[in-house]
Order: sequence, then C-alpha cells, then structure tokens
Amino acid sequence: MIAIYPGSFDPITNGHLDIIKRSSQLFERTIVAVLCNQNKQPIFSVEKRMEQIAFCTKHLSGVEVDSFSGLTVEYAKFRNAGVLIRGLRVLSDFEKELQMAHTNKTLWDGIETVFLATSTEYSFLSSSVVKEIAQFGGAVEHLVPKNVAADLYDYYS
Ligand code: PNS
Repeated sequence: MIAIYPGSFDPITNGHLDIIKRSSQLFERTIVAVLCNQNKQPIFSVEKRMEQIAFCTKHLSGVEVDSFSGLTVEYAKFRNAGVLIRGLRVLSDFEKELQMAHTNKTLWDGIETVFLATSTEYSFLSSSVVKEIAQFGGAVEHLVPKNVAADLYDYYS
C-alpha cells in the first residue's frame, strides 16, 4: 500500500520526521508530498524543502519525496496511493483534520486518511513555532533536523 504524507513542510520539523519514520514502518511506500500552490508565503522554495526532506529521510526505506499542486486526492490518484497520512498533535488539530479527511473522501471515495498521534515530545512543535524562534535568534537544533537548522540560521542571518 502506498501512503502519501502531504503538507507544507516549511520547514520539516522533528515532529514531521517522526511521523514519516512511523509511516515507513506501516506502509510499503510513503511519499512525502510538498504542496506547491499555497496562499501562505513560504520561506523556503519547494525545491529547497524537498532537498531538506530528502536529506533527513535518506536512511529510511520506502520513503520518497515529491511535490504537487492542486488537489491532494488528484495527486493521490495519480500516484496510485490509497492512504493519506496526517499527524495529530492536540485536540484542536482534530477539527480541521477531520473536516479535511471528510472533504477528501467526498472528492474521491478511494482515499482513506490515517491519523498518527504525534509523539508526546513533539506535541507542541510546529513549523511556525520553529520559524518564530529562529527569527529571533533562538536555538532550533533540538526541534528540526540538523540540515534544516543550518538553513534556518542562514535564512535569518
Ligand atoms: O502542512 P499543512 O499546511 O497542514 O498541509 C495542509 C495540506 C497541504 C495537506 C492541505 O492544505 C491540502 O491538502 N491542500 C491541497 C488542496 C486540497 O486538496 N484541498 C482539499 C482538502 S481540504
């Protein structure tokens, strides 16, 4: 079974990485798919985000990095994937995620969303929090992969 883990990943955090590792243990193939068509202004280009993810997942078998634009379910169909992976950190994530899962199901009945509970040590973590810390010169090495921490320091220096 092929699973897609879609997201902005601007940038990937240790929380995302934990979900990717666990997905790779559950599914034959996990495609980490970076969304291109976003209203949010990302700090890293899609290519850079793909490079960051590829670097920190290279030791994981069955993990591929790609990008997509448009609807996630259309991309899932195109990749023959039947599962979307999403991480749930806290209860407040659930409302938006459940709405998204239901929406995707109405768009294509062939898709199932599998929620993985984020490991408790990462339950506070988000790309936004990481960017805010890095922007004000705080340490982020414990929150993101090493290569991403270096990119963040470069970006905000
Ligand atoms: O990392 P994010 O920003 O929480 O990821 C959100 C994402 C990319 C999974 C979601 O915005 C998405 O699937 N966007 C693509 C457009 C789409 O398919 N919309 C319909 C489902 S609500």
